[in-house]
Amino acid sequence: MLGVLQDESEVRRRAMRFVITAGPTREHIDAVRFLSNPSTGKMGFAIAEAAAKRGHEVVLIAGPVVLKTPAGVRRVDVVSAREMLKAVCAECRPGTVLAGVAAVADFRPKISAKRKLHKGEMPGAIELVHNPDILASVKTKGVVKVGFAAETDDVLASAADKCRRKNLRMIVANDVSRRGIGFGADDNEVAFLFPDGAVERLPKMTKRAVARRIVERIESWF
Ligand code: C5P
Repeated sequence: MLGVLQDESEVRRRAMRFVITAGPTREHIDAVRFLSNPSTGKMGFAIAEAAAKRGHEVVLIAGPVVLKTPAGVRRVDVVSAREMLKAVCAECRPGTVLAGVAAVADFRPKISAKRKLHKGEMPGAIELVHNPDILASVKTKGVVKVGFAAETDDVLASAADKCRRKNLRMIVANDVSRRGIGFGADDNEVAFLFPDGAVERLPKMTKRAVARRIVERIESWF
């Protein structure tokens, strides 16, 4: 009996495989101009660091950011949302925990020039098309998906809606309109939301501390 219990605890401690998206994406208008957002990648990199420190295999799929790759993490650099989707699909397999922390640009210009356009060549208006939703697109059986919802109003209701629509095991909501906890800040104040409607609010803490809490929570499911 003791042998069986030891085996079970070994299974609980077994390393998991995390695929984490982080940072912004850039959607190019031409070779030097693009649409993007102020994400710095800090939250995603903090989760990658926390997961690697706890012995998990970590693949970090990063948009253009200036952060150092945490020790023990394999990093794949991408630029656009479509490149990020391709990289995520290539890395996800049954048993993967996919944490979508990237601030993926929702739109891209319909036409993107390979070279720099001269001012006179710039169109008066840029036609936009929707980017694919990366988290929603991954439907591989056995992939556990965790999302982030950076909101400025109706924070919990919007996050709960995304949790259901994207079929997530958990979504981490934060109010990016509040000073000191938004894009680029070192701190965050988040709430965990679950598909059954449960909400767990965490106090304000560093992004590194939030990252540890997220990794511990994910570990508790396995
Ligand atoms: O942009 P939105 O608020 O819908 O983002 C919620 C979650 O969905 C985040 O985890 C984000 O990384 C993910 N997302 C995505 N692909 C998109 C837009 C968002 O995976 N095109």
